[in-house]
Amino acid sequence: MPKKTVRDLFEQTAQIAISYRDEVDQVSPYASATADTLRLAFDTGLPKQGRDGPAIIHQLAQAAGPGLLGVSGDAFYGWVMGGSHPVGVAADWLTSTWGQNAGIYQTAPAAAIAEEIAGKWLIDLLNLPPESSIGFTTGATMASFICLATARQDVLARHDWNLDANGMFGAPEVSVYLGEEAHSSIFAALRFLGFGQNRLKRIEAESDGCMSPEALQATVRNDNGPKIIISQAGHINSGAFDDFDAISKIAEASDAWLHIDGAFGLWARSVQSKRHLCKGAKRADSWAVDGHKWLQVPYDSGYAIIKDADAHRSAMAITASYLNQDPEDGPSPSHYVPELSRRARGFATWAVLQALGRDGVTALVDDNCRNAQHLAKALGKIPGVHLMNTVNLNQLAIAFATDGASERTGNAMTTSVIQSLQEDGRWFIKDAVWKGRTIMRLSFSSCASEAASIDALVEAIAATWMATQKTVAK
Ligand SMILES: Cc1ncc(COP(=O)(O)O)c(C=O)c1O
Repeated sequence: MPKKTVRDLFEQTAQIAISYRDEVDQVSPYASATADTLRLAFDTGLPKQGRDGPAIIHQLAQAAGPGLLGVSGDAFYGWVMGGSHPVGVAADWLTSTWGQNAGIYQTAPAAAIAEEIAGKWLIDLLNLPPESSIGFTTGATMASFICLATARQDVLARHDWNLDANGMFGAPEVSVYLGEEAHSSIFAALRFLGFGQNRLKRIEAESDGCMSPEALQATVRNDNGPKIIISQAGHINSGAFDDFDAISKIAEASDAWLHIDGAFGLWARSVQSKRHLCKGAKRADSWAVDGHKWLQVPYDSGYAIIKDADAHRSAMAITASYLNQDPEDGPSPSHYVPELSRRARGFATWAVLQALGRDGVTALVDDNCRNAQHLAKALGKIPGVHLMNTVNLNQLAIAFATDGASERTGNAMTTSVIQSLQEDGRWFIKDAVWKGRTIMRLSFSSCASEAASIDALVEAIAATWMATQKTVAK
């Protein structure tokens, strides 16, 4: 492409990006298009001959626009999603512009060092063992996959089984313990690793969804072979934390590998006021945490952190004559993840960490938690609004039910409130099911969310709930 055409194309694209971010708070955070409308907009036929860049980018923006959610806007409370910090977005633009393949130092020296430095900062910020290694991943699912693949190899080696050489056939049975309310991505990671779902030892959950240490102890006591315990920092519905002090003691006494899924909750470790929630978490062997949730790195970004860097490399590294051979060749980011060719993920993380700084991360987590508590307090005053969790962090699980309503009626009422708020369209709100009850789950995990809009949200929820009761009463 001629240089001028490239320049025009990039300027046009920058303008589209700027307008999008300028306007994202003024439009509904919901997608307005259906899947069929989006198909029609995208499926304009594979052209026989290539088309001009500006026309393609214009068409892309037009086609995608009605199918975009306002994740980076100030009214997004769905799932647990970060708001893609503008500095991270800018760094991500450059990442694509530079087109580096961050497999090894030789293919991408700057990317390898950016990951090394950003990784060091992350481990420091999360107050994890400084000798830990880190793999930059697509998210917490892949981070847990990496940690658990490493755990699998390591605990088998402790029982004289060489997984690399012999694979899983005939291997000593690995006992895997996890809370019955572990996140679905953990069950997926275990499935990918060949741990059949029926073989997992699901440990009873306490009322906040956390794994009961007593039940864990009672189960572990019966087993002799290799063991992996999977614990959680930040339950998807309640935001609650497992008791890491108690669980790590059990892991240490039984020679088990302890992994913590801290997709969003592990960020509590970076904040003085919340650190107590994560007490004992440092004693684990591995941790999965997201960049694209609370740290606000643009999608996708996660980190697999493992205390034993040798075990991490041994489980993941790919070797060949033309790849880095020894430490003198420089760092190899791909030694800590399953991919060889890969995106230079460190640039965006490095940039966001600088944009926020330690104080910014603290303020972000503190603000989100304060806003969640403010909303919980206000909603708690409305009769018939039931908070299903203690709001210690950023998640709210809310059920709506009039006095004496059956669970079925309560669920219908909750669904009706959620649907009305979705039709209102000002806030992005989703449902979930927890303990058999339909809940409205709200997550405060974006740098864009504004305390000022919470009172309006409370008013809207109260009015919608009032209207729902009237409709049900008729
Ligand atoms: C506790 C927990 N673990 C794991 C995940 C999966 O993270 P990701 O979507 O980044 O793979 C999530 C996502 O919300 C989560 O809340």
